[in-house]
Amino acid sequence: MTSAGETRSADPFLGRVVDDRYRIEQLLGAGAVGSVYRAVDRSTKQNVALKIWTTAADNEQVQGRFLREAKALSTLHHPNIIAVYGYGVFGALPYVAMEFVDGRTLEHMLSAAQPLDTALACDVMMQVLQALAYAHGLGVIHRDLKPDNVALVQVDNGFVVKLLDFGLAKFLSPADDPMAGSALTLQGMVMGTPLYMAPEQAAGRAVDARVDVYAAGCMLFEMLSGRPPFTGETHAEIFRAHMLAPVPDLAGLRPDMVVAPELLQLLERALSKDPQERYTDAGEMLEHHLRMPRPPVRPKTHYPQNDNMRLRVDPASLVPAPRRAARWPLVAAVVTSLGTALALAYALLR
Ligand SMILES: Nc1ncnc2c1ncn2[C@@H]1O[C@H](COP(=O)(O)OP(=O)(O)O)[C@@H](O)[C@H]1O
Ligand SMILES: [Mg+2]
Repeated sequence: MTSAGETRSADPFLGRVVDDRYRIEQLLGAGAVGSVYRAVDRSTKQNVALKIWTTAADNEQVQGRFLREAKALSTLHHPNIIAVYGYGVFGALPYVAMEFVDGRTLEHMLSAAQPLDTALACDVMMQVLQALAYAHGLGVIHRDLKPDNVALVQVDNGFVVKLLDFGLAKFLSPADDPMAGSALTLQGMVMGTPLYMAPEQAAGRAVDARVDVYAAGCMLFEMLSGRPPFTGETHAEIFRAHMLAPVPDLAGLRPDMVVAPELLQLLERALSKDPQERYTDAGEMLEHHLRMPRPPVRPKTHYPQNDNMRLRVDPASLVPAPRRAARWPLVAAVVTSLGTALALAYALLR
């Protein structure tokens, strides 16, 4: 693993100034097409997130992703969608300057493979659906919704969700599509995890807002159970599960939870194999989500403050939540020693 110091000396972007405005300070995350940095806007002294498509040179697909993200973000203005400040070219590489999120990704919150508090899961889902409902209303589909692209900022009374990474966004109106008329398709695009991918998307068929509905359903299931609904050792196995496996039994995975029938219906409908049986878009799913009985108000859950999104760069520093079961050996040892002492006393006193 690279230490922070090594990364600093190896990264050619650190300390550079982009467009005479953004001074690059720190690497936040590296993805399939480039890197995201924290930079400081020299005029306002504010932090911004600078995403640089380092693999864009001579790569039409990566340039396509950049155009999609820049166009989608400048179309969308919503409190649960990362705001864009500007975009341009740095050297030969396209970049977008965005609102800086000092928080964690949902992926990080789920990395301990434990369910989230039910009220928190429902609140996160509501905010994700609000953002998507807004985007769908404007004819923009995210298409790459997954916990890694959902950022959470802790505020006094909970979390604020910010959707990231509109690099695969699709525009329902061809007139809005920055790639309209281009021969470029997304076939063969470097693909991340298929864990949240709707069956029709995995099969390469035409997609619409319902792929985001399906991905939202996968994330809700995972937040409530601690595991994604459809898993497998290989991509092929995961695709098979999306296409054929029934939605796993949530009540069986969460015997401690009272699972409302409305919640099961919501999951079943969002996770339908056939897009025709799903909610038509996030707006409709949101309506149903809001009609569900409210889960009990959660106890004040404290999430550590220092493990922010940067941890994605250094997974070794992730500390899984301590397991209650770890106390049992201690209890067993105390009971055994007490028993032995009593038996000894009884034998001596007889
Ligand atoms: N606005 C932001 N503020 C802070 N960190 C960010 C921001 N955008 C992205 N990141 C970090 O960079 C990582 C990759 O960003 P993302 O936009 O998802 O790009 P990719 O296309 O490479 O997946 C994220 O997982 C997150 O850790
Ligand atoms: Mg991403």
